[in-house]
This record gives sequence, C-alpha cells and structure tokens, in this order.
Amino acid sequence: MSDIEYLKKYYSGDIDNALKLLESGVPVQYIVGNVDFYGYNFLVNKNVLIPRFETEELVDRTIKYVQKFFNNPVRIVDLGCGSGCISITLSKELGLTVDAVDISSDALDVARENCIKNNASVNFYLGNMLEPLHDRYDVIISNPPYISYDEEIDEIVKKNEPSLALYADNDGLYFYEEILKNCKKYLNDRFMIAFEIGCTQGDKIKNIALKYLGDVSVSVEKDLSDRDRFVFIFN
Ligand SMILES: C[S@@+](CC[C@H](N)C(=O)[O-])C[C@H]1O[C@@H](n2cnc3c(N)ncnc32)[C@H](O)[C@@H]1O
Repeated sequence: MSDIEYLKKYYSGDIDNALKLLESGVPVQYIVGNVDFYGYNFLVNKNVLIPRFETEELVDRTIKYVQKFFNNPVRIVDLGCGSGCISITLSKELGLTVDAVDISSDALDVARENCIKNNASVNFYLGNMLEPLHDRYDVIISNPPYISYDEEIDEIVKKNEPSLALYADNDGLYFYEEILKNCKKYLNDRFMIAFEIGCTQGDKIKNIALKYLGDVSVSVEKDLSDRDRFVFIFN
C-alpha cells in the first residue's frame, strides 16, 4: 500500500492537511498516530521509534523460544522499550507481566498509554538499560539504538524519528556491550538474551557475548531479506 493509500485508509482527520504533512516528509505512521504490530495497535508519535517489521519477527522468534525452553511463569525484561511494542506484545501473547525500561520519559508516556489500550500487564521503569532493575530474569530482550554515527540512513528516519532511539557509540555496538557486560546479576542460571541487530553486527556481538558470558550458545539469525538481524544467546 502506498503512503497516500495508507493515509486515506487510516487517517480520520483533515486529509488535505495530512497530505501536506506527508509531502513535507513526515512519516505516514506519525500522521495517522498509530500503527499495527503483531495484530495489536500502538499509538506512535515523534517521541518513539515507529515499530518495524523486523521487530515483529524478533518478537515472534522470542515467543517460540520461550515456549520451547522455559516453563511459566517466565520473567522477561525489555530494554529500550520505546512505544512498548515488544513488551506489550509479549505480555499479551504469553499471558505474563513483563518489565520494560526506557531512558525517555516521553517514550514511557506513550508505552503506558499503549499498555492500557491493549489491556496488557507491563511494569515500566525510567532509567539507563539495566540500572533501574532489582530482579532476576529468564529473558532479556532488546532492540537498542544500534546505528553508528557515520552510517548513512534514510532522510525520513533521520529527520523525524528520535535520535535517542537510533544512534549508539562504538560503531553502534555500545548498548550490546553495556548489556552483555552487566547482565549476569540480573539473570537466572538458565537464560536467553534476544537482540535485534544491525546487519553487519552479528559476529561482533557474538564475540562480545562470548567475552562476557563465557560458555553460552549464540545464534545469529537472518531476517526475511536474508540479512543478519537477530542474536539469540542461550545458557
Ligand atoms: C531502537 S528503539 C526501540 C524501541 C522499541 N523497543 C521498538 O523495538 O520499536 C531504542 C529505544 O531505546 C531507548 N534508549 C536509548 N538509550 C537508552 C538507555 N541508555 N537506556 C534505556 N533506554 C534507552 C530509546 O529511547 C528508544 O526508545
């Protein structure tokens, strides 16, 4: 569906104004104000990343691994939750209370609204990745900022989506290293870590995981476009 068709289908306000915004380079999802993700509907605005198809795949694979490897109740935390699309979907699909963290209070406002709208059970924490947490988990899931500062990205993304959600130091690897370096005291003995990654980062993240977590099993997996997009770490 083209952006104009999408707008005409989903936008209920002043269509002429909406078309002007579209022409000026505002993403259609921000104009409409909500987006579908894994069968649920999420409010979005300029304070949150627009949920991506790849992230639906991350969630889908995570649900399957959780069902295969863990017994309920599974403790899950979503680091860098943004709109809440990951944590809220996991809560709904697995029938669990999930924890979720973001450093942006504006993003958390959107996530809280989405949690209520979807009747999910998520505890939200404001802070830096693992720092606000005081529990142990079976699963850490994260789609952190992973774009390096010198990478060319689409103008529409660069101009509109929050830079806090996009960029990370150390060639985009900063948050993976921070999480992997510090996660042990937040994890139970058997655990899984699920990451969405940039398509060139798989081997590097695998090495970081082996460096900090030792004898774990690491699976670098591809998205539908056949690019490395997910890392799953199992212990
Ligand atoms: C790539 S977005 C992912 C958002 C959402 N999970 C998704 O998949 O659509 C990364 C998120 O991490 C958050 N973030 C950035 N730095 C952070 C930090 N130091 N601690 C916690 N969250 C952070 C951003 O605010 C943003 O919401």
